[in-house]
Amino acid sequence: MTKLISTNHPLNLLNTFGISATTKLFYEFKDIQSLKEILANNIIKNEQIFILGGGSNILITKNFDGIVLKNSIEGIKIISEDRDNVSVEVGSGVNWHEFVLWSVSKNLSGIENLALIPGLVGASPMQNIGAYGVEVKDTISKVYFIDIKSRLEKNLTDKQCNFSYRNSIFKSKLKDKVIITKVIFKLSKHNLNNISYGAISSELESLKKDASCQTICEAVINIRSRKLPDPKYLGNSGSFFKNPVISTKKFEELKIKFPNIIGYQHSEKHTKIAAGWLIEKAGWKGFKEGNVGVYKKQALVLVNYGGAKGEHILKLSRKIQKSILSKFKIKILPEVNII
Ligand code: EPU
Repeated sequence: MTKLISTNHPLNLLNTFGISATTKLFYEFKDIQSLKEILANNIIKNEQIFILGGGSNILITKNFDGIVLKNSIEGIKIISEDRDNVSVEVGSGVNWHEFVLWSVSKNLSGIENLALIPGLVGASPMQNIGAYGVEVKDTISKVYFIDIKSRLEKNLTDKQCNFSYRNSIFKSKLKDKVIITKVIFKLSKHNLNNISYGAISSELESLKKDASCQTICEAVINIRSRKLPDPKYLGNSGSFFKNPVISTKKFEELKIKFPNIIGYQHSEKHTKIAAGWLIEKAGWKGFKEGNVGVYKKQALVLVNYGGAKGEHILKLSRKIQKSILSKFKIKILPEVNII
């Protein structure tokens, strides 16, 4: 086991921002048993632990002085089914998009709108990933995890996960306390055809295809590839900021000054504002300074043009936050985890 722990391990290929940094210790686990063993190992007793998935939602600002545990628990398996639904158990280290492609290849519906989201299955409940009118919480029935302190395997039902917009119990009460090992999804044998999100139906029209889980998946892949940069070619971590939720009263006031501001009803008294619109209106879209910038097609995405340090991206993000606060009196917060 100790032989498999590497020291001063590079992280540049393990984060989609492509930031160069190292971790003091590094270990990759492929199953629950080896995860339990490493957690019991003396070598990590006093070390800070960081669980790394696909590295698609992190900004590394300095070398990590602890142990990075890389999740590589694989496996997709159908565990039960009835007339309408299929329950699928998926290892937390499975690539999310691979799982989406698997589901549509089996004619199972529910996650096709979430195609091409980078990262691993284990991160999907953590931040309740969402896109094009669907959130993953609607398909999750159970999440299994290891409690780091006791090393016991536990699970929570979807209700107990406290899912909300880009949030869950794993980002709040259980943050840094557990490691997600597998997720049980409930997928539908019938096409759910969630095409309420404008761009999907127009994309299907231009493809001249009727809605099904396969065609929606194809439409989403097309839309995302046009609007979001591929980290293989341009370092980024998707939306850098969350869309802020403000009171509908404040939204109505802002609308007087900025009639084109984009907001969606979030709850009875709250409105979710498109942060991309705010950032664009504040003049940041396409901004470039040194090796960092704001993506020219989606202002919510910050990019590394090559060789940037995490602190450069962090600095730019703070400038953007400040400018949004002064122009709109709205606080925007990062969606990515800054480490
Ligand atoms: N907009 C602008 N300027 C921009 C970007 C967006 O005016 O530069 C406007 C758009 O025209 C649109 C509205 O803002 O009217 C919303 O934009 P978009 O549909 O692109 O979605 P988003 O709110 O910017 C969210 C998610 C994305 C997800 C898309 C599609 C968050 C933080 N982001 O972005 O998720 O793909 O919806 O559903 O909720 C991610 O989390 O990494 C991510 C990419």
